[in-house]
Amino acid sequence: MTEKKSVVEPVRWGVLGCARIANNWVAPAIVATPSAQLWAVASRAPDRAQEMARRFGAQKAYGAYEQLLADPDVEAVYIPLPNHLHKPWAIAALRAGKHVLCEKPIALNAAEAREMQAVAQETGNLLVEAFMYRYSPLMRQALQIVRAGELGELRAIHSAFTFVLPDDPRNVRLQADMGGGALYDVGCYAIHVQRLFAGREPVSTYARCLWSEQYGVDLNCAGLLDFGQGLVGSLHAGFDTPGNTFFRLLGTKGSLEGPDGFSPRERPGVLVLNRAGLTRRLTVPQANAYEQEVRDFSEAVRGAHPLLYGNESLDANMRVIDACYASAKSGQAVTVS
Ligand SMILES: NC(=O)c1ccc[n+]([C@@H]2O[C@H](COP(=O)([O-])OP(=O)(O)OC[C@H]3O[C@@H](n4cnc5c(N)ncnc54)[C@H](OP(=O)(O)O)[C@@H]3O)[C@@H](O)[C@H]2O)c1
Repeated sequence: MTEKKSVVEPVRWGVLGCARIANNWVAPAIVATPSAQLWAVASRAPDRAQEMARRFGAQKAYGAYEQLLADPDVEAVYIPLPNHLHKPWAIAALRAGKHVLCEKPIALNAAEAREMQAVAQETGNLLVEAFMYRYSPLMRQALQIVRAGELGELRAIHSAFTFVLPDDPRNVRLQADMGGGALYDVGCYAIHVQRLFAGREPVSTYARCLWSEQYGVDLNCAGLLDFGQGLVGSLHAGFDTPGNTFFRLLGTKGSLEGPDGFSPRERPGVLVLNRAGLTRRLTVPQANAYEQEVRDFSEAVRGAHPLLYGNESLDANMRVIDACYASAKSGQAVTVS
């Protein structure tokens, strides 16, 4: 994943929807990645598809998602649609013979995620949830430190992903029937990073949400995850508190902090490692995590190597989200089932 030249014939990508995340990050990443080619763009509005295709040099622009899926030249599809459309379009793409990189959260609940994964298995196509942050050198170094046992046994993981969302009723994050809400939108990262560092699944959760009366979605969510054997995680997700995207790990031999842990940007990242009373700031040369993600996926499509994070169980993160929402609604701790 470090050399710049493609080791494989570029994979032809199609994008469903002219989403902000596609325009700002993922389409540029596909264009910049030697093992990928942006082949087609589809939008509900043909002129938007044409404009985006022109901007990124895609060969085809389609005025309907079905048309892109019917294009035999498209090999991989990126899905940056509102959350409630992840399942139907991921399944449609898989059944059309495409590999799928689908935005987070993969679905609205664990049952939907299992259904999607079953179709991926049946069709033999890749289906990956686009948690781009984990491809950054910063995250990979942090994981190395934890897995090498430098922190001893983990006792606590704190993670947060919050930002201030402007009050715009058109934003998909504020639409209850589209899978809006802070826990779905950014809490999914705070949960995912804890599962990644813990290397196991939480057994139960206790969560509290602040609900918007106007929109019926959670604007803020805090949760405790019990991973058993003395490890507890605390997480925070919010649309109403300015920029926090950190993780902090406390172990029996030391602690590690990623003050800007989920940042996909190209500037150097920082890890703060504390061991035996000594605090060291480690500067990690950052790289564009979206490009790393597209590259890993494309090379795996070509069979050059397995996916960096393997064939993960796509319902695992959703099971924790389901349990957090159930706990926030009942006021009780809920077993992650
Ligand atoms: N990985 C990351 O860093 C990251 C960052 C931000 C967001 N995301 C995820 O990416 C997805 C999209 O987020 P976004 O902020 O980019 O959203 P967005 O700008 O609102 O884009 C969503 C796109 O979906 C299409 N769409 C189809 N049906 C729609 C409907 N009924 N209402 C609204 N849009 C509809 C639209 O494209 P057309 O009209 O052109 O068809 C629209 O541009 C979400 O799942 C989000 O969680 C990921």
